[in-house]
Amino acid sequence: MTKRSPLWHPQSPTINPESGAARDALALDDGFGMACDILVKGGLVAVPTETVYGLAADATNAEAIARIYAAKNRPSFNPLISHLPSLAAATQHGIFNADALALAKAFWPGPMTLVVAKRADSPIAALTSAGLDTVALRVPDAPLMRALAYATGKPLAAPSANRSGRVSPTTAEHVREELSDRIDLIADLGPCKVGVESSVILCVDDAPATLLRPGGLSTRAIEAILKRPLARAGTNDKTPSSPGMTSSHYAPSVPVRLNAVKVEAGEALIAFGPALPENADRAVDMINLSETGDSFEAAQKLFAAMRTLDRPDVRGIAVAPIPNEGLGEAINDRLRRAAF
Ligand code: TXA
Ligand code: MG
Repeated sequence: MTKRSPLWHPQSPTINPESGAARDALALDDGFGMACDILVKGGLVAVPTETVYGLAADATNAEAIARIYAAKNRPSFNPLISHLPSLAAATQHGIFNADALALAKAFWPGPMTLVVAKRADSPIAALTSAGLDTVALRVPDAPLMRALAYATGKPLAAPSANRSGRVSPTTAEHVREELSDRIDLIADLGPCKVGVESSVILCVDDAPATLLRPGGLSTRAIEAILKRPLARAGTNDKTPSSPGMTSSHYAPSVPVRLNAVKVEAGEALIAFGPALPENADRAVDMINLSETGDSFEAAQKLFAAMRTLDRPDVRGIAVAPIPNEGLGEAINDRLRRAAF
């Protein structure tokens, strides 16, 4: 029998890592001490964030980072996001230009990752950032992840806690299905509230802030802070695209058909909004991401829906059209990858 990693149900999911009372509350929870111990020794802990579950390790320990790649079966070394307890902690690792500072102040803690120039004295391992001279930093709206980074004194590298090529996990059960025999501990705080990964924004030198990956923040919200349009990766030669954005990143094993106005025989349906595609009643199964057409609700349900419908009695997944408003852009980005 393969080893199964223990599930930990943290006692204090609402703690604030910056307050002394929070540290006292956490000290009562044996699991917290165990998680810190695993991390400082170079082990792997699955930790929920507001976006998706992350597979966390000490970002300054190259061996621990190598274990992340091995656990995920990542074919190549994609650069990882380092999670920090606060903006002050993040500025010890990266150089924040005016855009980066404005965005961090507006959206941290939250579903946003900033790719900034790496400080020469940052102890983040070269392997964590795949040898680049930039680092991806995030202060998540996830008190447990922040508390672990705070208590261990380590930036915590965490990619989504799935095997390479699978959709990101939004519950502890998803993590268990794919990684349980490969990691040391899984913290279970129930479903993630955002459901798609963070928006990744490149802010280096005096180049315009550039969206590398649409995610948990809407473009409109980001542009309201920048007070100008957000540049897009790949639209000119000077803006490198995000190295981890390979097209097959989010594929379920059955074909996914986008913008479906009609359900075909053998297909399951992912619906959106009150109006259903033609032949919806003939679908093998149907999940409506949001009956009211709310893109935030839809993002929260997206990956779990793809997992539920990825099964032998389903010949393909038809997805109804989803407008690009709000988190629609991130949802459509993930769906295009799934359909690739
Ligand atoms: O919501 C999230 O972002 C989750 C949670 C766990 O925080 N994490 C996540 O990590 O989605 P991952 O490894 O699946 O995706 C990281 C993304 C990739 O697209 C990667 O290419 C990009 O961040 N990235 C990281 N460092 C970068 C860098 N230095 N330059 C450009 N892109 C970078
Ligand atoms: Mg991922």
